[in-house]
Amino acid sequence: MFSKKIACIGAGYVGGPTMAVIALKCPEYKVQVVDINADRIKAWQSDRLPIYEPGLDEVVRKARGRNLFFSSDIDAAIRESDIIFVSVNTPTKTFGEGAGRAADLQYWEKVARQILRASDSPKIVIEKSTLPVKTARTMEQILNANGKVRFEVISNPEFLAEGTAITDLLHPDRVLVGSRETPEGLRAREEVVDIYANWVPRERILTSNVWSAELSKLAANAFLAQRISSINSISALCEKTDADVSEVATAIGMDSRIGARFLNASVGFGGSCFKKDILNLVYISESYGLEEVARYWESVLDINEYQKARFVRTMIHEMFNTIVAKRIALFGFAFKADTSDTRESPAIHVARKLLEERAQLAVTDPKALANARVDLAGLEGVDFLEDPYEAARGAHAVAVMTEWEMYRGLDWEKIYESMEKPAFLFDGRNLLDHARLHRIGFNVYPLGKPALKHF
Ligand code: NAD
Ligand code: UDX
Repeated sequence: MFSKKIACIGAGYVGGPTMAVIALKCPEYKVQVVDINADRIKAWQSDRLPIYEPGLDEVVRKARGRNLFFSSDIDAAIRESDIIFVSVNTPTKTFGEGAGRAADLQYWEKVARQILRASDSPKIVIEKSTLPVKTARTMEQILNANGKVRFEVISNPEFLAEGTAITDLLHPDRVLVGSRETPEGLRAREEVVDIYANWVPRERILTSNVWSAELSKLAANAFLAQRISSINSISALCEKTDADVSEVATAIGMDSRIGARFLNASVGFGGSCFKKDILNLVYISESYGLEEVARYWESVLDINEYQKARFVRTMIHEMFNTIVAKRIALFGFAFKADTSDTRESPAIHVARKLLEERAQLAVTDPKALANARVDLAGLEGVDFLEDPYEAARGAHAVAVMTEWEMYRGLDWEKIYESMEKPAFLFDGRNLLDHARLHRIGFNVYPLGKPALKHF
């Protein structure tokens, strides 16, 4: 009764939302999402989904049980499906050749071998994970190793951002489908285009060769991260010159060639993608002997490390060069607002450095506290508190790590009253009304803007 049968291996931040939207928009397809992590699958089957993403609950509720299914039976899903998306994780390698830079493709290769073992009919295998350029060739070699059945490998990188995943999936700027340019490759390409054409205007569905698709994903993330490092580097200069980084960003961004988005100075970019994908780009460039290209992109990461370190240095310096035993409240731990994800969150770096200086930390976050506990497990001197007012009580400083909208609406007079004096506020996201906080009595340290102090 279903016109297409789709499986997705990997039920994470990409696999879950992506498949939920495909199922929602294509009720005539059967969509099965599978994972080796049985707990994750149980959570996807329950009312408490394993990830927080605005709008996700509603989409899952509409499609689950109708044409969207979550299961741990990976072989069965592979066997039954004609199209298999693979969205397993591709972290940075931590060992051996390329450690700290190259992508660790062991999960992907395991999946390719499992697809090969479990298949008894031709399949289209789609790279949804972000992979190094030329990975499709390796996958083809593994998948077509025994000639049992024919596999076509397609690159269909995902461009969603966490926190806006559902909107990004429903209204993508573009969908990219890369394939081999053989007759079979082009046929597979069309099959994948047809899925998205159910709700994405055709002119937004781009097709390309498979290598361009793989590389475009790495390059897009590198360009986005590069904008943040660029504005963050300017924020350091603003602090020395009394320029205001928000005013500079507005002036730069009104140039239509540059554009206004992704120019918010911050304590640094985090998330599971930017660092990993740039490291990967650097590694690939080096492996082709392109040293200058590698160094260029590596500098984007260097500035990000510099920005995080600079933020902590400012805190210590301004708090009279010692924070030993001082309570510091970290407002937010997620790598950005509207997600529970803390992977590579700048808050992890800041927390560790402050603890090294023997500060006492109170961490609060509306959605990411469970992950924060894991990230800081085993470290002494950290309280985890749901309530930001409790976190700030008795603190010498509040440091805003995540731009949660709710922090703007807090009763900052009340927070100020409950804190040690002088009370410091370090705004790592330029989220709050600094003039008002200063009037309340805080010594305020925005990013890339003059500090507002009382001494
Ligand atoms: P994730 O860690 O949230 O999810 C990956 C899932 O794959 C996990 O649940 C894991 O258990 C599962 N898995 C691993 N090996 C498996 C196997 N052999 N069989 C079955 N399941 C297996 O990762 P994610 O954030 O969803 O990212 C997945 C990929 O998508 C990565 O390559 C990432 O770079 C890319 N990507 C991520 C984002 C994002 O915003 N998170 C956006 C675009 C692209
Ligand atoms: C990113 C890409 O945006 C997305 O297209 C890709 O598919 C996955 O990687 P994500 O990491 O989920 O998405 O979030 P993003 O909105 O890009 O933010 C990444 C980091 O940059 C966050 O820590 C965010 O706070 C920071 N950021 C973003 C800034 O510091 N300043 C900005 O102007 C924008």
